[in-house]
Amino acid sequence: MNSVTSLFAPVEADLKVLAENLKSLVGARHPILYAAAEHLFSAGGKRVRPAIVLLIARATLPGEDITPRHRRLAEITEMIHTASLVHDDVLDTAETRRGIPTVHDQFGNRVAVLAGDFLFAQSSWYLANLDNLTVVKLLSQVIMDLAEGEIQQSLSSFDTEMSIETYLEKSYFKTASLLANSAKAAAILSDLPEPNCHKMYLYGRHLGLAFQIVDDILDFTSSTEVLGKPAGSDLAGGNLTAPVLYAMEEQPRLAELIVGEFEQEGDLEKALGLIHASTGIDQSWDLAKEHVRLALEQLTDLAPSHSKSALMEMGDYVLQRSH
Ligand code: IPE
Ligand code: IPE
Ligand code: MG
Ligand code: MG
Repeated sequence: MNSVTSLFAPVEADLKVLAENLKSLVGARHPILYAAAEHLFSAGGKRVRPAIVLLIARATLPGEDITPRHRRLAEITEMIHTASLVHDDVLDTAETRRGIPTVHDQFGNRVAVLAGDFLFAQSSWYLANLDNLTVVKLLSQVIMDLAEGEIQQSLSSFDTEMSIETYLEKSYFKTASLLANSAKAAAILSDLPEPNCHKMYLYGRHLGLAFQIVDDILDFTSSTEVLGKPAGSDLAGGNLTAPVLYAMEEQPRLAELIVGEFEQEGDLEKALGLIHASTGIDQSWDLAKEHVRLALEQLTDLAPSHSKSALMEMGDYVLQRSH
């Protein structure tokens, strides 16, 4: 198994500072909202997104220290991500996240919605204070995209007509937009020329798509204990992801079970059996690998450094992650 610690080694010290700052950035004016946010930050996610921002910062400023604005961008990125998870857990009625009870499970829907809003609002405020209008626009677009992705997903539940293209578009909005635009913003803060900034955007976009495809595979192949969040829930809730879309092409009975929304007892188990008997999961791995390949292609212009190597290894990490 790939160790995250060694992968993140070039920015390990930066990530420690980030963990401390995240808690103090979320002001203590509203005790319940603070408790809700603090609870998630303390549980500690994998911090993939801020690690990428910090690695790009280091890879694009060789021989220099990263700037306070890069650090703040990494913090904002993790705050936006965490806010989206708080809202996502309300929509998915998920009970666990990062191995602990979700905000919605512990404090109820009302607090969870407010806590997510609060985190988005806080992140916007820190974003504005970066004093870079281009970066403000990129990350504001991400917040719009996150809502768009969740709306598209809820409107398309149990829709067996959905294409892989539509699935990838939704996955861009839900997941890849944040990686793409925060990677680009890191390059902008390093004053890179536009074509190089765009390559960082494409790196984040393809890595983000691969990350979501793998997440969707793990929902079928892993367990709640390992993931720290509910496994096997996407299909039951009508969220048709890559493994299902590919499996439906081979197993016509699968679409019938989905259209019937698994009304008979045993229907869901039958559907899962059909998916595992198909090549859907293998085809999804191939799709994820293809996006990792496209992501790594964008890094050729970066001068060699430990941070660049870590950005390359991030590809294998995404494909080998267990949670
Ligand atoms: C979960 O993201 C949401 C998806 C985009 C699949 P992560 O797997 O990065 O979650 P944490 O931050 O490590 O908890
Ligand atoms: C990613 O989608 C969620 C967001 C980016 C908000 P999922 O719904 O697959 O995330 P998990 O599986 O709950 O972490
Ligand atoms: Mg979810
Ligand atoms: Mg998921």
